[in-house]
Amino acid sequence: MRIGVLTGGGDCPGLNAVIRAAVRKGVSVYGHEFVGFRDGWRGPLEGETMPLDVQAVRGILPRGGTILGSSRTNPIKIDGGVERINENLAATGVDALIAIGGEDTLGVAKQLYDLGVRVVGVPKTIDNDLGSTDYTFGFDTAVNIAMEAIDRLHTTAESHHRVLICEVMGRHAGWIALHAGMAAGANVILIPEKPFDIERVCEYVESRFKTRYAPIIVVAEGAHPLEGQMTLQTGELDSFGHVRLGGIGEMLAKEIEKRIGKEARTTVLGHIQRGGTPTAFDRVLATRFGLQAIDAVHEGDFGKMVALQGTRIVRVGLDEATKELKTVPVERYQEAEVFFG
Ligand code: F6P
Repeated sequence: MRIGVLTGGGDCPGLNAVIRAAVRKGVSVYGHEFVGFRDGWRGPLEGETMPLDVQAVRGILPRGGTILGSSRTNPIKIDGGVERINENLAATGVDALIAIGGEDTLGVAKQLYDLGVRVVGVPKTIDNDLGSTDYTFGFDTAVNIAMEAIDRLHTTAESHHRVLICEVMGRHAGWIALHAGMAAGANVILIPEKPFDIERVCEYVESRFKTRYAPIIVVAEGAHPLEGQMTLQTGELDSFGHVRLGGIGEMLAKEIEKRIGKEARTTVLGHIQRGGTPTAFDRVLATRFGLQAIDAVHEGDFGKMVALQGTRIVRVGLDEATKELKTVPVERYQEAEVFFG
């Protein structure tokens, strides 16, 4: 078989490990051939490919980003996009596709599968918000980067008696904030799933100052206050209709300074959370996903996404995987709340 591979959406540590595992097993165990599509769905849409053999994947296991490039191109939004993809897959002699991506990339994979494209999906995202899989690779790396940053903020917060706010990514899910905040002992963690009460946040901050420790607030980029408490900015939309998030940390700092008169400063971790080398957990998970994905392709088990359930790598329908976002359940947030204030 000739198998196409693409990586779509925001890059994340572990993408190269998936590509390497699929290619290594596909070539050495099954005798398949591979072709890389560049920049997510833009590759098959415009017929832009790159060679992808064992030599091309040597040494990429610890490398962040993706050797294939990525984009947020949405072929469903482009007139005749799906037809062009079908034509280009045929022209490049591709029998099947491995699409590595988050909810957007896999949503497109699902629609293409319904139209007859032989595709298997691999879930990636630092946000950890995909249904049907306990974890996505990239998440563990992002959490560890954020945890280390928060650990470092503690010393400045305490030396200068400041409120330090750390804004993390995660889009509409609070997983990164919850895990990084718990791991680093945040004073309060704010997540999109639970609108926050600014008065309560200020009480937590003041109680932490009374104990002579300076407060660290971890805020997810998608967190928002109870209606009417603060005015939020509106952001631009990407081609999948997602608003570009960011800025809640700064707004929170201004509001806290105004309300309690203490200096409050914000650190926005941004793309640092997606950069650099994957943790061991993410390398192993991504490798196991890659191995399972090539098995699925070899067996002709299309329309599936590989997933982690417990410690097992399983296959689930793409429809099930993309049905709804996996957000932080109330009881997980309540565990963290014990440590607030
Ligand atoms: O989905 C991963 C993610 O990093 C989100 O946490 C964040 O909201 C978004 O991508 C940022 O996307 P971009 O890098 O395209 O601005």
